[in-house]
Amino acid sequence: MEYLTLNNGVKMPLLGLGTFLADGDTGQKAVITALDIGYRHIDTAAEYGNEKQVGQAIADSSVARDEIFLVTKLWNEDMRNGTFTTAFEESLNRLGVDYIDMYLLHWPAGDYVAAWQVLEKIYKSGKTRAIGVCNFQPHHIEDLRKVWSVVPVVNQIELHPELTQEPLRNFCNKLGIAVTAYSPLGGPKQAGRMMDNPLFSDIAQKYNKTAAQIVLRWGLDIGVAVIPKSANPARIAQNIDIFDFKLGKEDIAAIDALNIDRRVGYDPDNFNF
Ligand code: A2P
Repeated sequence: MEYLTLNNGVKMPLLGLGTFLADGDTGQKAVITALDIGYRHIDTAAEYGNEKQVGQAIADSSVARDEIFLVTKLWNEDMRNGTFTTAFEESLNRLGVDYIDMYLLHWPAGDYVAAWQVLEKIYKSGKTRAIGVCNFQPHHIEDLRKVWSVVPVVNQIELHPELTQEPLRNFCNKLGIAVTAYSPLGGPKQAGRMMDNPLFSDIAQKYNKTAAQIVLRWGLDIGVAVIPKSANPARIAQNIDIFDFKLGKEDIAAIDALNIDRRVGYDPDNFNF
């Protein structure tokens, strides 16, 4: 596993297991498999409805808690209702842990500036080792910047070869904010379609890897962390097997050129949940 040092010195594994849509028993099994084969970064959210199962998998695993980078997120409704602290405590309870590694604002919803100030307090209390945001555009980050005493460590955003997010990555990098790519394979429903592009199979052949491994490696090679979701043991294993090669410049450029700014998820400037 390779790690990225965040702006507060905490080290984040560059590859994590995404668990959106891996709920109930499926989610629990996926996390157990992932930890068994070397994943050390697990991404969940209050909204995914699987914190209990993720926590149980961590408790049952032989991997020590302090080797696991556990991420969860504050949901929009709590941001709108102002129930920030209660929501955090409820996440801790469901996960059955006494600290989180990284706590994120899930979307720029409600009074996200007030929410950020509460996250700063939680961070300073030591109950989370890092705080960050998801789905923030530059103008949302600028709003936080007016008041922040803690710079977000991460902005977790939709990012894949059809949405390379170069301007937003550059903006974040200048402020010392790392980027984590969600839907790095093109999202839950689109994964097949995007990865069917023959460019990936051509490049895959060259490196003796699969199309998915090429897409994930491209993410690492452009400097972001990736959290592919899979509930399938073979694919969970495949997705971590990306640390023994790097793509050449020409292959990175060819994948970069697939960008069409196409989202599979919601637009952070236009969502209704
Ligand atoms: P599954 O859970 O059945 O493996 P993303 O992380 O971009 O949201 O992509 C997740 C989607 O991609 C899921 O549908 C997942 O299905 C599928 N997926 C995950 N890993 C791979 C892989 N290595 N090859 C093909 N599809 C994959």
